[in-house]
Amino acid sequence: MKTIPVRLKERSYDILIGQNLLGSIGTSFRKAGLADRQFILVSQKNIWALFEKKISESFAKEQIQYKLFLLPSLKSSEACKTQAVWSRLIKSLASLDGKNRSLALLALGGGVVGDLTGFAAAVYRRGIPYVQIPTTLTAQVDSAIGGKTGVDLPEGKNLLGCIYQPAMVLSDISALSSLPDRHWSDGFAEVIKYGMIQDVSLFELLEKTGLQALRGDAEKFEEVIERCAKIKADTVEADEFDKKGVRIVLNFGHTAGHAIEAASAYSRAYTHGEAVGVGMLVACDISRSLGVLKDANLTQRLEKTLMKFNLPLHFKGVSAGQVLEAIGYDKKSIQKKNRFILPVKLGKVTVVKDIPSEVIQSALEGRKG
Ligand SMILES: NC(=O)c1ccc[n+]([C@@H]2O[C@H](COP(=O)([O-])OP(=O)(O)OC[C@H]3O[C@@H](n4cnc5c(N)ncnc54)[C@H](O)[C@@H]3O)[C@@H](O)[C@H]2O)c1
Ligand SMILES: [Zn+2]
Repeated sequence: MKTIPVRLKERSYDILIGQNLLGSIGTSFRKAGLADRQFILVSQKNIWALFEKKISESFAKEQIQYKLFLLPSLKSSEACKTQAVWSRLIKSLASLDGKNRSLALLALGGGVVGDLTGFAAAVYRRGIPYVQIPTTLTAQVDSAIGGKTGVDLPEGKNLLGCIYQPAMVLSDISALSSLPDRHWSDGFAEVIKYGMIQDVSLFELLEKTGLQALRGDAEKFEEVIERCAKIKADTVEADEFDKKGVRIVLNFGHTAGHAIEAASAYSRAYTHGEAVGVGMLVACDISRSLGVLKDANLTQRLEKTLMKFNLPLHFKGVSAGQVLEAIGYDKKSIQKKNRFILPVKLGKVTVVKDIPSEVIQSALEGRKG
């Protein structure tokens, strides 16, 4: 097992990464001083069915008390990330409050469970501890670390939320084995992103291996998770509240990526990672046309790597104009402010503001499948 510390003064915590960690979760809670609390364990029915035995047995050994709160089974898990479900969780906390143990929350699941649980922990009694147990690749390399919590509003994703750090993150790599193929690719888009923004040798490893090879090599794969968690932890340490222009580089590929997701929301044609993959290519194309990109081969290397992880190189089903609109332009506003993270070379990005809309439009047209 590897421990990666996130050093944020009194809000510091550890990320534990390794194989079969859930079997000894009770011991990890005891070591972290969390065993004497009353937990509400938040999860989804399908996820709890996978891990119930290991967790309940290990908790029983350490006499850790927990009550289960399962999110409703709706058409998508994102549909559970609402104020309504969050309020029900808060009510469950209130109904347990005042009994003999202090309360804490535990998020067992992907980013949806993690974001919603973290937000309940952040506001209940002005903050109670919560533990993240990420069970998707996206959550292990990204969403469970750094304390961004929240729920969606009908008007948009993650509109209600705050930054509130967990007390511990426990990433059991073996928990990923049941993930459907598309979720693996989805998570790897964020892994590729870390290579592009900061870690040349991580990118080189990804471009040499590919999805199947990495999934089949437990040791290498574990190292990949550790490196991503470390980059995320370092970035959060440097700019916890996303105010110093450091944490923002994690948004590489996300300006166009989010817009592709938003423009195609109705069809749900793209997962987040698939849209971010195309978004990274759009950023490369913009960077090249502005002369910011200093490495002529980078776009092609990124394309090849995305293909090795079954990620698309183009978007379909919506027009470049619709994506541009979703970035924040409408037909009337000629010059609106925008901010893109653009690659300079492998492992280095820069923030560029106010890019002319024609440059963005032509990059988007080039990525329209
Ligand atoms: N807080 C942050 O910094 C941050 C960063 C990135 C994304 N997010 C948020 O995370 C969410 C997306 O997270 P996600 O990609 O993990 O998706 P998710 O939480 O919706 O999980 C994806 C699906 O995988 C299933 N699943 C989870 N673990 C499984 C396992 N081990 N085996 C089989 N199936 C499993 C879930 O039931 C769900 O259907 C979005 O709401 C996004 O806004 C937050
Ligand atoms: Zn993302």
